Amino acid sequence: MKKNILKIINYKNNKPLVCLTAYSKPIAKIVDKYCDIVLVGDSLATAMYGMENTHQVTLETMIQHGISVKSNLSKALCVVDMPTNSYRTIKEAKKNAILIIKKTKCDAVKIECNGKNFEIIESIVKIGIPVMGHIGFTPQHYKNFRVHGLLEKDRLKLINEAKKNEKAGVFSIVLECVTEFVAKEITSTLKIPTIGIGASVHCDGQILVTDDMLGLSGFYPRFVKKFVRLDNIIEKGVQKYNKAVLNKKFPGKKNTF
Ligand code: KIV
Repeated sequence: MKKNILKIINYKNNKPLVCLTAYSKPIAKIVDKYCDIVLVGDSLATAMYGMENTHQVTLETMIQHGISVKSNLSKALCVVDMPTNSYRTIKEAKKNAILIIKKTKCDAVKIECNGKNFEIIESIVKIGIPVMGHIGFTPQHYKNFRVHGLLEKDRLKLINEAKKNEKAGVFSIVLECVTEFVAKEITSTLKIPTIGIGASVHCDGQILVTDDMLGLSGFYPRFVKKFVRLDNIIEKGVQKYNKAVLNKKFPGKKNTF
């Protein structure tokens, strides 16, 4: 197993994994300093491109953003999401995972679980490409946002999926919108780290969509904490600019040749 992947697995029971998304070069540079894993998530579809969901984002778009992010990372592990319709068969999944790694030079890919793509995950792991799993609310497969694990049959389904992901060879697994009780059980059952988003403090690490935690996306479910309100900060800057232009205070002498 690659050293950088082993390092992530060894965080389990040692230190929480700090993870965030990045879609661009400047954000990558900042988050790299403070994160163990940087995910080029297909959430860029909604957070950046204003799409209704993640279903329309293409492989080419993911690769472009992957290249941009990876170019400014120096220490964090870089994971790129495999978008919808890029892993429908083993052949297609292997071809596209190889393409993502080759073009972006990222360290791993992430695949959302649809309850039956374990052989696909295994086939990618077998060709030497590390895979991060993703269970619970998986936006590529569910239309409506909801908490997973409330019912007993839901709990059993999630535990089964988590175990099957681990067996298929994933090096870590995202638990999205999963109840505290189930997240705790999965975390203590698996040998690989769990990374929670809306899945409680009991996971081995946490991830958020950076645009959400900076107050930029406008998407703020209960599990998102806005660590800063960049929307307000940006608005203040734009207001000042507007005023300065209208009052002919900008450009001043300093900004003029
Ligand atoms: O696409 C994404 O940003 C994700 C995270 C929410 C885990 O999958």
